[in-house]
Amino acid sequence: MRGLWPLCFALGAVAAAGGRLSPERSAVWGPGLRAEAALPARYFYVQAVDAEGQRFTSSPGENAFQVKITAPDEQFTRVGVQVLDRKDGSFLVRYRMYASYKSLKIEIKTGDKHVAKSPYILKGPIYHENCDCPQEESSAWLEEMNCPQNIPQIQRDLANFPIVDPDKIAKEIPQRFGQRQSLCHYTIKDNEVYIKTYGEHVGFRIFMDAILLSLTRKVKMPDVEFFVNLGDWPLEKKKPPQSLHPIFSWCGSSESKDIVMPTYDLTDSVLETMGRVSLDMMSVQANTGPSWEDKNTTAFWRGRDSRKERLELVKLSRKYPEIIDAAFTNFFFFKHDESLYGPIVKHISFFDFFKYKYQINIDGTVAAYRLPYLLAGNSVVLKQDSIYYEHFYNELQPWKHYIPFKSDLSDLLEKLHWAKDHDEEAKNIAKSGQEFARNNLMGDHIFCYYFKLFQEYASLQVSEPKIRDGMEKVPQPEDDLFPCTCHRKKAKDEL
Ligand SMILES: *[C@@H]1O[C@H](CO)[C@@H](O)[C@H](O)[C@H]1NC(C)=O
Repeated sequence: MRGLWPLCFALGAVAAAGGRLSPERSAVWGPGLRAEAALPARYFYVQAVDAEGQRFTSSPGENAFQVKITAPDEQFTRVGVQVLDRKDGSFLVRYRMYASYKSLKIEIKTGDKHVAKSPYILKGPIYHENCDCPQEESSAWLEEMNCPQNIPQIQRDLANFPIVDPDKIAKEIPQRFGQRQSLCHYTIKDNEVYIKTYGEHVGFRIFMDAILLSLTRKVKMPDVEFFVNLGDWPLEKKKPPQSLHPIFSWCGSSESKDIVMPTYDLTDSVLETMGRVSLDMMSVQANTGPSWEDKNTTAFWRGRDSRKERLELVKLSRKYPEIIDAAFTNFFFFKHDESLYGPIVKHISFFDFFKYKYQINIDGTVAAYRLPYLLAGNSVVLKQDSIYYEHFYNELQPWKHYIPFKSDLSDLLEKLHWAKDHDEEAKNIAKSGQEFARNNLMGDHIFCYYFKLFQEYASLQVSEPKIRDGMEKVPQPEDDLFPCTCHRKKAKDEL
């Protein structure tokens, strides 16, 4: 037995508890093992377990598992694969398909041994992101995606709108909000997307167009007509019982009645995972910095000067540099008084934030859209009380998922003091926040959220959604290198 230990170390297969990695007992699960669950980047998990059935709680070694994905029927498999070590004994495996396949073979090995039930054979067709092949039955799609029955924020937002009359809003909303320069009017009809924009500042429609097109490639959307506010601030400030207008926005507030959607930032990162973006809800999980015990105990913040409280934070940091390291990477909104706020500092990689144990989340123009990524790390988040929220904030609980502090920052030092005095509790809050992000903010959750939102909103419509004057069709991208054949469309032609 003595000779075995060096070997185990060489394989990196020693758990904190001292067990050996067991290929059979290790666990593999997740939507990336289901052919029908099409996502821009598909993913599944591997949990390292030892021969006694104990889960590893630290990494068994970055290269403990090897994953190979092939299409048995094809000569080439155009799939990018990454195995991300989450450093807690679990791995996130993600893959992006660049072509569609009849079947897919996923082999997960440790050394030369297959892990759990590997190889996994996905019986297709398995479609890649650009394949236009919507599931006609929305209930089947919801099931394939494992979407939740109810999403509380959607219920809350739509409760303000007992009915929606497309004929009426098509007239009234442009009158009320059309001058804002950043409004889009969408109609989805027969699963095609149509748009009319209002104003000069509608560049951000690309994010909305992209998610709607992606959805219509995956599932038959209901006929639906709605308005999207591309600006930062929520718009609908009327108080009931006056008649409210339904406006979809990326940020909600307790002082408005806009219907919230996942932010454009989160949406884009889901669509472009393993593509154009480098910071997304998966990559962040593999880059959470040193372990809790080894993190720097100075609280950390970087950002731009988009709100007064941010100025206060930087002043506080300059007064107590050993407690808070906060600095501006950009000055735009306020006058840059270097004697008060110090020099502009260089951008640091978001992943480097997690060298620090305490992360300060403070509003920008509206909610700070970095919160999903901050939660996914293994630092504890201190979140400013705020009227602004993203689609998931109301499900977060203070003291469970984050440490709250007052919007004027008056108790921030006190809260940091508490965290240092209650290290175990702070660590648990960090863990719960991370757990929340892992279970609620991944790509499949975002797709579910959008679909259910439009589905439930569509059910409130009392007149028919129409393609209005001045609307243009938003076409599907046509530059795909490996076009697919959609089995559902073929079946339709044969009828
Ligand atoms: C922790 O971070 C602060 C601020 O960035 C820095 O001044 C300090 O040297 C760091 N401490 C250690 C132990 O690295």
